[in-house]
Amino acid sequence: MKVIITENYEEMSRVAADIIINKVKADPTAVLGLATGSSPIGTYDNMVKDHLENGTSYKNVKTVNLDEYVTLAPEHDQSYAYFMRKNLFDRVDIDLANTNLPSGIAECAQAECDRYNALLDTMKQDIQLLGLGSNGHIGFNEPGTPFGSVTHLVDLTENTIKDNSRLFDNIDDVPRQALSMGIKNIMQAKSILMVVSGANKADAVYGMVKGEVTPDLPASVLQLHPDVTIVCDKAAASKL
Ligand code: GLP
Repeated sequence: MKVIITENYEEMSRVAADIIINKVKADPTAVLGLATGSSPIGTYDNMVKDHLENGTSYKNVKTVNLDEYVTLAPEHDQSYAYFMRKNLFDRVDIDLANTNLPSGIAECAQAECDRYNALLDTMKQDIQLLGLGSNGHIGFNEPGTPFGSVTHLVDLTENTIKDNSRLFDNIDDVPRQALSMGIKNIMQAKSILMVVSGANKADAVYGMVKGEVTPDLPASVLQLHPDVTIVCDKAAASKL
């Protein structure tokens, strides 16, 4: 596990974006595993800036996202599908047909999970971008999720609902469930890149890097992956 500590969020975002940009330059048909939340927004901004200034092309890139809220249609402004278009897809030359997220409005959640797992079997991520929940979750794999899990329906914890409510008008608007890639789907990536910022993540960062490998802190599983880079700012790294 390689840990890069940066001065602040801006530097974290530049460093992480450069890692992804270099992957795409080396392989213009790369499969990118993408993430949502406030942590990767700066990374996406830097990828867009590079696309506009240097012409790095995403035309032949394919993407798979980690998760989606159940009940939110892709047009809903709090859906992760909307987030991805707003923050990245609509700002680079990617073909939307090459982008994939689980659907939050599928009639049958299990059938949708099966579809997504089958897709992931054919699309191994060359790089998987991750954020980190303050309780150590990755994707929406909450504490206690088995390491062998694949895409599944998740009941969000009160902690996560509270954390994520800042992006909604009202805490009651936060969906209670999500579809998320499982830990096994994340671990199949050839390389993993995590961005973490802020003092509220410091305990989770410590557990992930130095703690015991345990489903109680899902991100600790990354200690078992051969190619992981954690880019975190000073505040998030303060307990290391
Ligand atoms: C959500 C997402 C995660 C993300 C986490 C942290 O729960 N499902 O993928 O890593 O939030 O979000 P933030 O980066 O906004 O702190």
